[in-house]
Amino acid sequence: MDERRVYLDNSATTPVAEEVLREMIPYFNKAMGNPNSLHTWGREARRAVDEARGDVAALVGADASEIIFTGGGSASDNLAIKGSVWGTKGTRKHIITSAVEHHAVLDTCKWLGQNGCDVTILPVDKFGMISPDSLTNAIRDDTLLVSVMHANNEVGTVNPIAKLGEICRNRGVIFHTDAVQSIGHIPVRLKELPVDMLTMSAHKMYGPKGVGALYIRKGLKLVSIIHGGGQEFGIYSGTENVPGIVGFGAAARLAVKLNESEEEKRITSLRDKLINGVLELIPDTVLTGHRTERLPFHVSFCVRGADGSDILVEMDRAGIGGSSGSACTSGSTEPSYVLLAMGFDHGTAHGSVRLTLNKNTTEEDISYVLEKLPAIAESARKSLYKRKK
Ligand SMILES: Cc1ncc(COP(=O)(O)O)c(C=O)c1O
Repeated sequence: MDERRVYLDNSATTPVAEEVLREMIPYFNKAMGNPNSLHTWGREARRAVDEARGDVAALVGADASEIIFTGGGSASDNLAIKGSVWGTKGTRKHIITSAVEHHAVLDTCKWLGQNGCDVTILPVDKFGMISPDSLTNAIRDDTLLVSVMHANNEVGTVNPIAKLGEICRNRGVIFHTDAVQSIGHIPVRLKELPVDMLTMSAHKMYGPKGVGALYIRKGLKLVSIIHGGGQEFGIYSGTENVPGIVGFGAAARLAVKLNESEEEKRITSLRDKLINGVLELIPDTVLTGHRTERLPFHVSFCVRGADGSDILVEMDRAGIGGSSGSACTSGSTEPSYVLLAMGFDHGTAHGSVRLTLNKNTTEEDISYVLEKLPAIAESARKSLYKRKK
């Protein structure tokens, strides 16, 4: 086992930043009140939740009243889609999504398709991008909702959400975007964007797991998908996860600082060094996703003739943590549905690897990965060849 350890699976989850963790700790024991209680402890917790709501709102340029805390990105996606569909009494039952969404969106839409909705799944181009024209053509008079992700988790491609949102707005259609991968990494100003709902998750931006938020534009009415004590403006019941929410608020403030610093430039340059190195040093390797319209920390590629999971195992032995496709589908023997939708053949898609950087990734880390990867890829190719013989 090599000494160095390089964690490059930040699209799956990021480490909680030290300053975020420090702010969360008191809310587990000392300031542990239920924010719905009237006593001092409760009021203290309520104040912390309100402050965090303001911090998350500030990160995306929204009003605090437009932010609902949830149990994470999946919960926010479900709330956005089911909450708007079930809240609509009329005849508008058509929803549109894309073929490369996270399962939290895609499976929710498919399930609604089996339960009274009509669902259109938009194709993507070879970069995994949704074209404004295909959206324009798919919208019908009875279209209620469009849900298209901001940035793709598997291939890092960033969609033109301003254009897509504008098309929806002009046709009176609700536009939701899953921005779990982009928020905190790419500046988003919701006051200037035609987006009606936007999903966020704290653990992809140096916050804790199990807490997320849904931005809901003022005036848009959703029904609750979890009934109970009426917390979060009656839309997402359950005692608030106060330490988690405090952590999300702290992570949002950290993201604002990072957005204002040179971090995006720094990480983009490391990303490009890794992409160029991989394509140069490993023969017959193809980049997946867009070359420039891409998350600044995201590298993904396919090594033809190899199995991504063999590469992962060998990378792990060398102290490198990466993934093959998305966190939730790695471990599956099926090639990624995202890569197939982008037009990759099964063989190529099987060789997929995703390496996602974070604010602690250094130049030396990238050099180390580039030093190890060519031999790892070669060995994975040999293993697959032997198994096939
Ligand atoms: C694009 C996208 N949406 C939603 C999710 C789910 O978020 P969470 O893990 O907070 O439920 C993820 C997590 O990988 C994601 O990448």
